[in-house]
Amino acid sequence: MPSLQPESSDAEIGVPVVIKVHAKPDAQQARRIAREFLRSTRLKVRAQDELVLVVAELAMNLVRHTTDGGTITLQSVAIEEGFAVQIESHDAGPGIDNLESSLRDGTSSIGGLGGGFATVKNLVDDFSISSTPGGTHISVRRWTDRS
Ligand SMILES: Nc1ncnc2c1ncn2[C@@H]1O[C@H](COP(=O)(O)OP(=O)(O)OP(=O)(O)O)[C@@H](O)[C@H]1O
Ligand SMILES: [Mg+2]
Repeated sequence: MPSLQPESSDAEIGVPVVIKVHAKPDAQQARRIAREFLRSTRLKVRAQDELVLVVAELAMNLVRHTTDGGTITLQSVAIEEGFAVQIESHDAGPGIDNLESSLRDGTSSIGGLGGGFATVKNLVDDFSISSTPGGTHISVRRWTDRS
């Protein structure tokens, strides 16, 4: 009986890794877990490093810009083009006031560099975000065969 799973490492079977992030040490932990997770994917080392940066930026945004923190979820997903690594950030508010300008490079509500989202967008193939006062959901993907 042929296996339904593609020939791949464990991460590509698609079990999600969920990391709770509230304070700064959680963001550092998210970075470590992401590094471990990404090592088990088909991504080249440089691409792995870039996605660790993506996780770090999203996690630090949970620490700095949310009321109660949130979660970062890492998962390998099957897509039409093949496989992708998906990184999601979920939180329960307060949401992003001016979404359009917040996504622009150099825009920060706390006097930061405001380069977080710009960096994230540059390093992924797919970026989607929805935000209301009830919470923000960000989902990004990077194809595993691009590097
Ligand atoms: N999860 C979030 N919830 C609410 N607001 C957010 C969230 N993530 C980002 N923001 C808002 O979007 C703005 C832009 O985020 P971005 O990461 O680009 O910059 P920054 O965090 O202010 O600075 P930097 O990341 O360069 O240190 C933030 O200043 C903040 O107002
Ligand atoms: Mg940021």
